[in-house]
Amino acid sequence: MGKNLFTTKSISKLLDQASADEHSLKRTLGPGNLVALGIGAVIGAGIFVITGTASAQYAGPAIVISFIISGLACAFAGLCYAEFASMIPIAGSAYTYAYATMGEFIAWIIGWDLILEYLFASSTVAVGWSGYVVNFFKENLNIDMPAYLVNAPYTHDQKLGWIATGAFINLPAVLIVALVSVLLVVGIKESARFNNIIVIVKLAVVLLFIIFGFSYIRPENLTPFIPPNTGEFGHYGYSGILRGSGVIFFAYIGFDAVSTAAQEAKNPQRDMPIGMLGSLAVCTILYILVAIVLTGMVKYDQLAVASPIAFAVDSVGAGLKWLNPLIKLGAIAGLSSVILVMLMAQPRIFYSMSRDGLLPEIFGKLHPTFKTPYVSTIITGVFAALMAGLFPISVLGELVSIGTLLAFTIVCLGILVLRYKKPDLVRPFKTPFVPVIPVLGAGFCLVQMYGLPGDTWIRLFVWMAIGFIIYFLYGKKHSKLNNP
Ligand code: ALA
Repeated sequence: MGKNLFTTKSISKLLDQASADEHSLKRTLGPGNLVALGIGAVIGAGIFVITGTASAQYAGPAIVISFIISGLACAFAGLCYAEFASMIPIAGSAYTYAYATMGEFIAWIIGWDLILEYLFASSTVAVGWSGYVVNFFKENLNIDMPAYLVNAPYTHDQKLGWIATGAFINLPAVLIVALVSVLLVVGIKESARFNNIIVIVKLAVVLLFIIFGFSYIRPENLTPFIPPNTGEFGHYGYSGILRGSGVIFFAYIGFDAVSTAAQEAKNPQRDMPIGMLGSLAVCTILYILVAIVLTGMVKYDQLAVASPIAFAVDSVGAGLKWLNPLIKLGAIAGLSSVILVMLMAQPRIFYSMSRDGLLPEIFGKLHPTFKTPYVSTIITGVFAALMAGLFPISVLGELVSIGTLLAFTIVCLGILVLRYKKPDLVRPFKTPFVPVIPVLGAGFCLVQMYGLPGDTWIRLFVWMAIGFIIYFLYGKKHSKLNNP
């Protein structure tokens, strides 16, 4: 049994399988599309919403340091991801990489973790999207949507536990997930074009905020840069910076979504690393600048609001009033593109897992005309819409962060294992300074997980337990590798 759990899939078999005609997805994406895909997935609710709450509750202006810590973790993990993605350029992301290196059981763990990442991230961002839309309707169009239709029915307080809010459902969040899912069933090419346009809008808005906000930075808002700890772990001080980095890790999630489009890339060996590392570099620089400008414009303790960037622009008076609707519209467009990439990545992971027999065949079914994995796209959409309709952004976002940090830790360790076990494999892109970079990557991720609240850990354990049950009751028995 132990052997079965850890048998690995051969890389040449993986590549053969990928090129099998009946399963091939259309190859339409170039390097520009891939960088845009990365940026499209990365800049979203993390920077537009969670930065504000994380600095207000955990780190103060030192959220800038949290962003640097998280950015370093992603850079290390990204370098490891890029080696895998260039070596095994097929759909499935870290799941597939783990299958080829650490065996089926670890692959299952990571695949199950990635479901947590993409599916719940799309819900998280949909909730952020809903917040900006509701705010735009109210403040800019004078249309007040009924509160019971635009809020989660439940919220979670660390001391009081789950509390009913009196709302019925977050309807805008549900609707955006449904709309994007339909777009994805129709096809990747149209989706990529749509994505490129939105990415340009989103970058423009972020740059406008940095450039015009810069002159409104007031040094007194940035002092003390690290507010003193309140006596509770994670509430300001150094532990607050650490918790802040775990929470805003969400802001970086998505560059790895590029790897799930490998089978749709024209030249995956060369372009996967470009897509991932390029988008990560752009986003890291922008985040650090946004964090400085945001906490410089407004005192951190006022930033726990649904649309902190728009709030900062408003709070400096008439001078930047013109920027307010642009920020909101840009955020709304920007968040849509994140939902798009997340919802596109998830079915492709289902697709790989079902092709390996670990999930039922129906998850891998391609549409005869559109060539998209339409059944799993619809299943993903329904589930993501439900989560988005029922739960608040903080609960969803922290769960995504912890799950992704775990997945990244395994990816970093996987590079070490593979260099040792299969040193001769062709690696078009090599992670530099092995073993230093993978060890640092895994270490940074684990430390950030340590910083996250205890109830988030419990949710991760519950999620993983459900995963183990499914694996041992279904996946292991139907695995094509173990039951040829
Ligand atoms: N990084 C993405 C966001 O912040 C998931 O929305």
